[in-house]
Amino acid sequence: MSFTNTIIPRSVEWKETYIRLLDQQKLPAVTEYIKLQTISDVWEAIKALKVRGAPAIGITAAFGLALAAKQYETENLEEFHLLLDRDHDYLASSRPTAVNLFWALGRLVKSVQGAVSVNEAKTDLLHEAIQIQVEDEATCRRIGEHALPLFKNGDSVMTICNAGSIATARYGTALAPFYLAKEKNISLSVYACETRPVLQGARLTTWELLQADVDVTLITDNMAAHTIFSKGISAIIVGADRIAANGDTANKIGTYNLALLAGAFQIPFYVAAPLSTFDTETKSGAEIPIEERDPKEITHFGGQQIAPDHVKVFNPAFDVTPHHLITGIITEKGVLSGDYSSEIQKVFKGEF
Ligand code: MRU
Repeated sequence: MSFTNTIIPRSVEWKETYIRLLDQQKLPAVTEYIKLQTISDVWEAIKALKVRGAPAIGITAAFGLALAAKQYETENLEEFHLLLDRDHDYLASSRPTAVNLFWALGRLVKSVQGAVSVNEAKTDLLHEAIQIQVEDEATCRRIGEHALPLFKNGDSVMTICNAGSIATARYGTALAPFYLAKEKNISLSVYACETRPVLQGARLTTWELLQADVDVTLITDNMAAHTIFSKGISAIIVGADRIAANGDTANKIGTYNLALLAGAFQIPFYVAAPLSTFDTETKSGAEIPIEERDPKEITHFGGQQIAPDHVKVFNPAFDVTPHHLITGIITEKGVLSGDYSSEIQKVFKGEF
């Protein structure tokens, strides 16, 4: 079987005068593509989770910066750089945890360092943004290829959040092996945790896997232990927003719970992530900034208030799984395991 674009959906497309974005906040009830025409449209789309998932956030921000720069009226290169730095900082303020945002924006700014005219700089920015997207698709496919041999025909695997095609350029990270298994007629079943409070698992993971005819079953987050036990879950695989130099991994809130459960049930716990999600400047998970979001994501459900007025709320969007709970980190270069500090160093030195 070979897949077409329709059954592995794409979330971000460059359209010359705007960015065409799948509005992930409206899924699965409405499949709507919106136009991002200004840098504030891009900032707002990232903040409001219309686009989410570390690689997709990076790709959108990269196109956002290229779009903003395209609209600068100056011919003066020095002024161009000042405007670019301002807009870089603005987009970088949209969300704090996924390092792909800062990585992609940094790549864009670096790409114009040698430009000798404003026009050349504008072209360089766009080329770099396109390159980031193209590379991410190939990277995700390679992650899937490295992940697939970790599973056996007939396995049931648990995941949380959405680390799928719409969270990346295509294929996803944690979901890539399931698309590849489908191509190779290997039967794998997915148990998707709904992922409170914003329900990326219920709304997005099931939506994209159903389109590709991958066997997926939805559970609420508090059903994980019972499901691992009663359905014979053989492994857990998740994505990542930022991986520190020692392998500690920030991912969607609830990931840490699953890692602890995997340990208790003695099943493997895998993180699937591209090298663009590693932050070697950050020594350990303790240094990773964790986004806290609007309390309304918890006190309200589908527009209905479900908690008393004025109740105190703690709403972290991510948690950090300590590296010792991770069986393997699946990257485009292969599967890292054991002493993550040295494995990560090796992979970045090209020695892996
Ligand atoms: O808040 P979100 O939806 O952006 O969180 C997304 C995740 O936690 C994903 O698992 C992660 O970004 C990896 S996406 C390939």
